[in-house]
Amino acid sequence: MDSSITRRTFLQLAGISTVGVATGLAGCSQSRNTEAASSSSESSSPGSSSTDAAATDTAATDSTATTDTTATDSAASTSQTEAGKGNSLVLVFSRADENYVVGTVEVGNTMVLAQMIAEKTGADLFEIERVTAYPTGYDDCCDEALEEQRASARPELKTMPDITGYDTVYFGFPCWWGDLPMPVYTAIEALDWNGKTISPFNTHEGSGESGMFSTLASKCAGATVTDGLTMTGGTAQNNRSEAESEVDSWLASLQ
Ligand SMILES: Cc1cc2nc3c(=O)[nH]c(=O)nc-3n(C[C@H](O)[C@H](O)[C@H](O)COP(=O)(O)O)c2cc1C
Repeated sequence: MDSSITRRTFLQLAGISTVGVATGLAGCSQSRNTEAASSSSESSSPGSSSTDAAATDTAATDSTATTDTTATDSAASTSQTEAGKGNSLVLVFSRADENYVVGTVEVGNTMVLAQMIAEKTGADLFEIERVTAYPTGYDDCCDEALEEQRASARPELKTMPDITGYDTVYFGFPCWWGDLPMPVYTAIEALDWNGKTISPFNTHEGSGESGMFSTLASKCAGATVTDGLTMTGGTAQNNRSEAESEVDSWLASLQ
């Protein structure tokens, strides 16, 4: 394991520029994939498509990784009441609490988009949640997420989503260390994607979609993956009119 790949590295890289972040984070992912059993087959290619400004906050202090957390559930709701009732589902992993750029939030950045998409399409919404919530502190969460990624962990979920009966799955997630968060892998590897259309969306702070959309295409056998929507978390959280406009354009492009 390359001990130089740390949260501090992530933050220092993030202070350089959007391109610097994308390149640096992709580098993190590539290094990680060569030192541990790879958790995704195509997730290491840099894929920044962001035109938003990169975060510039580089203040970082080391902290000890922890698996003990007192985090409470996110304020976002899970409203998949009856699988198969509608024909589309918004499936999302998102984390509230303290985060990069946006500070402490009650609804995670990707969840903001997920709720917009569900409202606009009439889709059901299901939140992928790890049994043990991630730490509420950003630094601790980064450390724990990196540990999980290096271990190619497949953390247990509170409830496995049920995608039977849905034709279309709008699938949202943040970029974590240049890759999908590990609970997303837990879900995608357990589900039967045959015949589904996946429309992916993600938030990030400089890495863009970072190859995650093609990772979905390769891991979700039998599914068709459409063009995705990529947005910075800061835009989703703090510029709702811009976020809504981008969501509208994307949904229109899928028709
Ligand atoms: C554990 C962790 C790792 C992250 N890694 C990256 C990264 O590699 N590249 C990036 O651009 N942003 C990274 N971020 C920032 C998130 O992608 C961004 O804040 C996103 O909008 C969070 O979405 P959420 O609020 O839905 O969880 C990371 C954030 C966390 C908490």
